[in-house]
Amino acid sequence: MLFTTFIFTALYSSVVSATALPKRQSPAIWQSPYSGTLVSPTTDQPVVLGGDFPFEYDVSSWCEPDFAPFTVYLTEGREPPVFDNVTASGALADGAFVFEFGKFVVSRFGLPTSSPPPPSNLTMPTPETLNTTFRTESRFYLSIVEEFDGCPGDIAVEYSLTSVALKLVPSE
Ligand SMILES: *[C@@H]1O[C@H](CO)[C@@H](O)[C@H](O)[C@H]1NC(C)=O
Ligand SMILES: *[C@@H]1O[C@H](CO)[C@@H](O)[C@H](O)[C@H]1NC(C)=O
Ligand SMILES: *[C@@H]1O[C@H](CO)[C@@H](O)[C@H](O)[C@H]1NC(C)=O
Repeated sequence: MLFTTFIFTALYSSVVSATALPKRQSPAIWQSPYSGTLVSPTTDQPVVLGGDFPFEYDVSSWCEPDFAPFTVYLTEGREPPVFDNVTASGALADGAFVFEFGKFVVSRFGLPTSSPPPPSNLTMPTPETLNTTFRTESRFYLSIVEEFDGCPGDIAVEYSLTSVALKLVPSE
């Protein structure tokens, strides 16, 4: 009896320690100490669903990278996404966003890149294209994950996350 209790306790504690491991251990996901700045749209700017809106994101050049890649998302929720939602590949986790506008690259020294440069405006999807049921009372954010490659040199890649609240309005 004592022996079975011991086995049970040992099993139980190994289950507990397995679930208590850090959620993200390998590879580590590093957060950049600096982030770029969303210039446009501005906080709570109304954006018509299905319409174009001006877009400007100033990348952070804190470590002088040749390329500044970033991905633009629309997220839904009372709060903006958190850095925990950034995956090892620099995306937002499935379920953490309702639309992806695409990945763009700023080439700081005019070098050729495989991804397009950021456009001066983006098209807000129609409600049918969102991975959610649109409600006028929902809160939405435009969220950007910027990638910093090899800077500082001892860390292969770091990411930053920036968000601004938007007011999505249905088209007439
Ligand atoms: C769509 O939303 C559901 C529910 O949040 C989620 O499980 C799924 O991963 C999402 N799909 C994408 C592509 O984000
Ligand atoms: C985003 O991160 C928060 C905090 O860790 C977590 O509660 C939430 O489930 C995450 N969302 C997704 C879709 O991974
Ligand atoms: C959006 O940008 C494209 C190309 O950058 C341009 O042709 C179009 O006129 C712009 N639309 C608006 C509403 O600014």
